[in-house]
Amino acid sequence: MKISVVGTGYVGLVTGACFAETGIDVTCVDIDVEKITKLKNGIIPIWEPGLKEMVNRNVEKGRLSFSTNLKDSLKDVEVIFSAVGTPPDEDDSADLQYVLAVAREIGQYIENYMVIVTKSTVPIGTAKKVKTAIQEELDKRNVNIPFDVASNPEFLKEGNAIDDFLKPDRIVIGIENKESEKIMRRLYKPFLLNNHPIIFMDIPSAEMTKYAANSMLATKISFMNDIANLCEIVGADVNMVRKGIGSDSRIGNKFIYPGAGYGGSCFPKDVKALIKISEENKHSLIILKAVEDVNKRQKEVLFNKANKHFKGNLKGKTFAIWGLSFKPNTDDMREASSLTVIEKLLSAGAKVIAYDPVAMEETRRKIGDVIKYAKDPFDALLDVDALIIITEWTEFRSPNFKIMERIMKNKIIFDGRNIYEPNEMKDSGWTYYSIGRKPIIN
Ligand SMILES: NC(=O)c1ccc[n+]([C@@H]2O[C@H](COP(=O)([O-])OP(=O)(O)OC[C@H]3O[C@@H](n4cnc5c(N)ncnc54)[C@H](O)[C@@H]3O)[C@@H](O)[C@H]2O)c1
Repeated sequence: MKISVVGTGYVGLVTGACFAETGIDVTCVDIDVEKITKLKNGIIPIWEPGLKEMVNRNVEKGRLSFSTNLKDSLKDVEVIFSAVGTPPDEDDSADLQYVLAVAREIGQYIENYMVIVTKSTVPIGTAKKVKTAIQEELDKRNVNIPFDVASNPEFLKEGNAIDDFLKPDRIVIGIENKESEKIMRRLYKPFLLNNHPIIFMDIPSAEMTKYAANSMLATKISFMNDIANLCEIVGADVNMVRKGIGSDSRIGNKFIYPGAGYGGSCFPKDVKALIKISEENKHSLIILKAVEDVNKRQKEVLFNKANKHFKGNLKGKTFAIWGLSFKPNTDDMREASSLTVIEKLLSAGAKVIAYDPVAMEETRRKIGDVIKYAKDPFDALLDVDALIIITEWTEFRSPNFKIMERIMKNKIIFDGRNIYEPNEMKDSGWTYYSIGRKPIIN
């Protein structure tokens, strides 16, 4: 079987590599010439565990190739995935310009029947727009080539993308007829052999499923952050509360960790887009609006704690930041909470020196040299007034506190991920602020 994947970003590249791994012949297409050149030279433009090895292995076996030419990639393919970006438009709706540009290009070049599958996260009704755009191009060419559209939203998590793709909790596919279902079933057969469920449904339901899933996860996070902030006020410990509620199987223990607010390329934009979709349909998604508000506030919590501790006088103070990416195991900085904290610290006249195991290059690309970048976690701590932890990379979990207290100006930590034990911090003389737990003031 031969397929093409258009858009070679996080989703497209992982999709292409994982299908190639199952023996399928895959071409990954992108308009970004630099990205494709890098990939052709074995350089992976994103940091994702295991991806480099998988890409290179499949390129060597001749099953995975890269191209900037969509037309050439269409020869003999049965399925073409569109995995281009759907960033938020000015009014928060999903910007469909890339999805529709790809659809028009496909319409200009297809020569035989194929299934055109949207993998990007798109508003309900997009498949219809894709279909119309393709048909318009076919009409312009005055040709009659049958094709089907389908929706196959992606649920992979950055940082664990390969495992998520190869061992999915479920595969959701919206189809419009039996023929496309048959082809999609054949394509995904290697995953079904391991009993991973595949759920076929109508296309609007598949499109909605992705938004509903991300919105539910964002809701869990914001709910827990809201509860955490109340815990601090009333003297409860959110970690205990989390364990207490997470052991209820109806609630579950995943995604109920409080923190410094959710970020990334998906939750913020998808929550906004679903709110917009509801408004366009004269329905008010009250819960999701609150989810967004809570998250906005949560991204400022670490700064507010620091500001309060230093009595509003941050001018001239230096803060170390550990962890810049929106979560561990990725260099993705889109909507990362660290960006909010940095911006607020700098506006208050403070200086920042940051360390992240993989995301410093991407941070520098985004905000330049307004902050300093350290070569290792301890290098970031030299003479700083306090440390702020934003991303829970494993290497921050058991640092050598003895070294830390020798090189920092003050023994103060603002921990946005609750990775240390308050009692231990107290005993060793640290001033330690975390989320939803009583501050330790030494
Ligand atoms: N990143 C995630 O974790 C994730 C998870 C699930 C779903 N999604 C969804 O998947 C979609 C893609 O996300 P991403 O993070 O991979 O995006 P990305 O920005 O990393 O990649 C998109 C790629 O599409 C390319 N592109 C744009 N227009 C093109 C065109 N006309 N032809 C060929 N290539 C083109 C861009 O150059 C870019 O390389 C989005 O809708 C996103 O919401 C993302």
